[in-house]
Amino acid sequence: MRTDTGQVFHLKDYAPTDFVVDRIDLTFELDPAETKVISRVLMKRRAGVSRSAPLVFDGDELTLDSVQLDGNDIDPADFDVTPENLTIRNLPAEATFEITVNTTIAPEANTSLMGLYRTGNIYCTQCEAEGFRRITYFYDRPDVLAVYTVTIISRKDDARLMLSNGNYLGGGNYDEGRHFAAWFDPHPKPSYLFALVAGDLGVIEDTFTTMDEREVALRIYVEHGKEKRAAYAMDALKRSMRWDEETFGRAYDLDIFMIVAVSDFNMGAMENKGLNVFNDKYVLADPETATDADYANIEAIIAHEYFHNWTGNRITCRDWFQLCLKEGLTVFRDHAFSADQRSAPVKRIAEIRLLKAHQFPEDAGPLAHPVRPESYREINNFYTATVYEKGSEVVGMLRTIVGADAFRQGMDLYFERHDGQAVTIEDFLACFAEASSRDLMQFSLWYSQAGTPSVSVSTSWDEAKSTFTVTLEQSLQPTPGQPRKEVMHIPLAYGLLLEDGSEHKGSPSGAGASSAAAGVLHLTRRKQSVTFADVASRPVLSINRGFSAPVNLAMEQSSADLAHIARHDADGVARWQAINDHATRHLVAAARLARDGRPLPASDELCAILTAVAGDESLEPAFRAQALTLPAESDIAREIGSNIEPDSIRAAREAVIADVARAGRELFSTLANQAPGGPYSPDAGSAGLRALAGIALSYASIAEASPARAAAVFAAADNMTVMAQALQVLAHHFPGTGAATDALAAFEARFADNPLVIDKWFAIQAMAPGAATLDRVRELMTSRHFDRMNPNRVRALIGSFSAGNPTGFNRADGAGFRLLADEVTAIDKRNPQLAARLLTAMRSWRSLEPVRQEEARLALVAILGAAQLSTDVSDIVQRTLA
Ligand code: PHE
Ligand code: ZN
Repeated sequence: MRTDTGQVFHLKDYAPTDFVVDRIDLTFELDPAETKVISRVLMKRRAGVSRSAPLVFDGDELTLDSVQLDGNDIDPADFDVTPENLTIRNLPAEATFEITVNTTIAPEANTSLMGLYRTGNIYCTQCEAEGFRRITYFYDRPDVLAVYTVTIISRKDDARLMLSNGNYLGGGNYDEGRHFAAWFDPHPKPSYLFALVAGDLGVIEDTFTTMDEREVALRIYVEHGKEKRAAYAMDALKRSMRWDEETFGRAYDLDIFMIVAVSDFNMGAMENKGLNVFNDKYVLADPETATDADYANIEAIIAHEYFHNWTGNRITCRDWFQLCLKEGLTVFRDHAFSADQRSAPVKRIAEIRLLKAHQFPEDAGPLAHPVRPESYREINNFYTATVYEKGSEVVGMLRTIVGADAFRQGMDLYFERHDGQAVTIEDFLACFAEASSRDLMQFSLWYSQAGTPSVSVSTSWDEAKSTFTVTLEQSLQPTPGQPRKEVMHIPLAYGLLLEDGSEHKGSPSGAGASSAAAGVLHLTRRKQSVTFADVASRPVLSINRGFSAPVNLAMEQSSADLAHIARHDADGVARWQAINDHATRHLVAAARLARDGRPLPASDELCAILTAVAGDESLEPAFRAQALTLPAESDIAREIGSNIEPDSIRAAREAVIADVARAGRELFSTLANQAPGGPYSPDAGSAGLRALAGIALSYASIAEASPARAAAVFAAADNMTVMAQALQVLAHHFPGTGAATDALAAFEARFADNPLVIDKWFAIQAMAPGAATLDRVRELMTSRHFDRMNPNRVRALIGSFSAGNPTGFNRADGAGFRLLADEVTAIDKRNPQLAARLLTAMRSWRSLEPVRQEEARLALVAILGAAQLSTDVSDIVQRTLA
C-alpha cells in the first residue's frame, strides 16, 4: 500500500517528459507468485533537453531485477532505484536507444486490484489511473503515447487463454508445458490503457461490419457456464457500435473487440484499447437474476466503454487534471445513446435525479472540486460525480449554447485535429469556439469553478402594457480553495405557458435574450431582465426546462402554477420537474413541522396531482412511475440544508406517502396488477410497465396496511425485477412480519450460489429504514455470503447502508459512523481505493444536527488516528474534516 507522503500535484506544474517513447515491447512470464516482466522501451531524448537530464520512470511497490541500455547491463553508478522510481543517468544525447527493465511481481499478493492481480483463477490488469507502474517502471502518465507489442507466456494448465490489446499476432508452444501468445496494438496509447487478461474463460462470439465494410470480431469472455448471460451485453455492444457511426461518424479501428467480465473490480468497467475489462455486474444478465435497472446499466456501460475508443483512447488526456475531457464527454455520449434507445424524457428524468442525489451534495460539501480540478493528492479520489456527471452536463450546456449543428461540427473538428494526441479542455473548447464563432471564455468557468450556482427568478406581468418581465440573478457560494467566484454563463431553457395551456410565441428583449428565439435565456451577468411583449394574460414561466443548466433555482411559484406546468408543458421533463418541485416543497414543509412536533399539513393538492398522473393513460407508464416516486429522504435533507434530523424527515415522508396511498387506493390496486404479459423482455416499454406496477404495489400495500399483496407478487414473480420490487416492499414496509422474513429466507436459499443476486438481498436489507438495521448489517457481515475483499459485496452491504439508509446510518448514538470507520480502516490495508470511496458517505456530516455531527466528527478523527493510512483514505478524511 502506498502510504501518504503529503505530496500535492498541481495543474500549473505540467511539463512534458524529457524523453520521448516510441515503442514498448512487453513480455510476461505469468505465475501467480512470481511473474517476470520484461519491458523494452525504444526512446530518445526530447529535442532541446539538456544532456545531463536523467530519465526518471515511475514505479509502485516494485522490485527491480536488472536494467539494460541497448542490451548491456547499466553500470550501478548510472542508476538509482527505489520502489517508486527508477532514475538512469548518462543516456545518449541524440540517438534512439533501448532501455530494458526486468521486474518480478506477485499477482496473487496484489489485493488493491490495481496493476496485475488475480480474480478467481484468472490474471487481470487494471492500469487507470496509475496502475501500470505496479507492473514495470515506466513513464506512467497519459501524455506518453507508445505502440505496444505484448508477448504472454504461461503454463498451459494455468492460463489457457492469453489476451492483450490490439490485434492477435500469433502464438503456440513455448517450452515444456508452456505456451505463448503475442498481440500488437498499432494505435499509440498511454500506459493506463494497457491490459492483459489470462486464464480459462468461456466466450460468446459475434461479428460487426463497420460502415467502411471492415469485419470486426466481437468476443465477450465470462466464467464458464455464464455465457448465456452475456447475450444482452453483446446486443448492446453492436447497437453502440452502430450508433457511434450514425451519430458521430466514428467507426471501430481494430480487427477485434473484446470484453472480459471479472468478479473483483473496483469500478464499473475499463476502456482498455480493444480489451475492455468489466465488473461482471455490468455484463451478466438474464430475466431470472437481473432487474430492468441492471439491463439499462449494462446497456449504458457497454456503450460508455465502447465510446471511449474515440473519446479517451484515440484522443486522450494530457494529464489527469483533464479527466473530464474523456469522462464528461463520454458520459454525455452514453446518455445520448440511452436516450435514443429508450424514452428520452424518462432517461433525462433519471439523470436529473442522479445528478441531484450524488453530484449536488458533493458540490455543496467539503469534497467539492471543479469539473477540472487544479490540484490533487490522490487521483483515484477524483473519479467523482462532479468529473463524470457534472462534466457531462457541461458538455450538454455547450451543445445548448452553440446549437446542435455547430456542436456536431465542433466534434468533427476535435476528432480530426486531435486524433492520436493527448490534449486539454482548452483544446476541446477551441474546436467549438471555432465551429460556432463564439467566445467560450465565460462558459469555460464551468470547468474551473466548483459549486452549484443558484439562480433566483422573479417575474412580473404588467396588465396595462401586456408585458411580462423575467428577472434572473445568479450567485455561487465559496467552496474549498475558492473563496470568490466569477459570474458564469448559465443557459436556461424556458417557455411561457398561457392560461389555455398553449405557449406564448415571440421573443423577449433585453440582455441575454439573444438566442431566446430558440427558447433559451442566457444569463451571463450577475443580474439581468428580459421583457416579453404582447402577453395579454398572466403567463406561467417554465424555466430550466430539461434541466438545461445544473443549478438550484429559487423561484416563488404557486402550487397552482406548478400544477399548470405539470398539466400543460410541452416538455415532459418540465412536467416532471414541476411535480417534483411541488412534492419537494410539500415534504420539506412537512419535515419541518414534524421536527417541531406539530401536526402535518394536509396533502390534498399533492395527492390530486399524483393520482391524476397515475391514472392518465395518455402518459408513458415509465413517466408515471417517475412522477409517483417521491423525493427521497436524502433529497429532502439536501433541500433543508442544515441541522438535519433524519428521523423527522422520514416520519414526515412516510405520512405523506400514506396520504397518497389512501387517496389513490383503488387506482394503485388496479395498476399493481398491470404488469406486462408474456415472457419477460427488457425493452423500455415493458420496463416502464413494471416500474409503474412496482410503485403501485408499494402504495397499495401501504393503503391496505398488509404484506399479503406483496407476498403474493413475490411468490408469483417470474423475473427478478418484480421479485426484487416485492421483496423491498416487504422488507422496508413490513419488517419483522412473517411475510418479510419468509421472503428474505426464500430469496437467500434460491440465489445462494449467485453472488450478484445476493448483493440485492444485502442491499435491500441494509437500506431498511430505522435504527435497528445496524444490528442486521453486522449480522450479515458475518454471513457466509459476505466477503470483505470483494468490492461488489462491500458496496452492496456497507455502501448501501452508509449511503442509502439515512435513518439507520445516521443513528443519533453514532454507531453507524463507527461501523463505517472500522470497515474503512480495515479495508484500507488491502484495498485503499475501495476504502476511500466508501468513506465519501460521510461527506455531508456537517449538515447534520449537532449531536450527530459530533458523533460523525469523532468517527472521522478515529480513522485519522489509525496507523498507516493510504494516501487515498487520508486525503478523503482530511478534506472531509477540513
Ligand atoms: N475509465 C473508467 C470508465 O469510465 C473508470 C475507471 C477508472 C475504471 C479507474 C477503473 C479505474 O469508464
Ligand atoms: Zn469512462
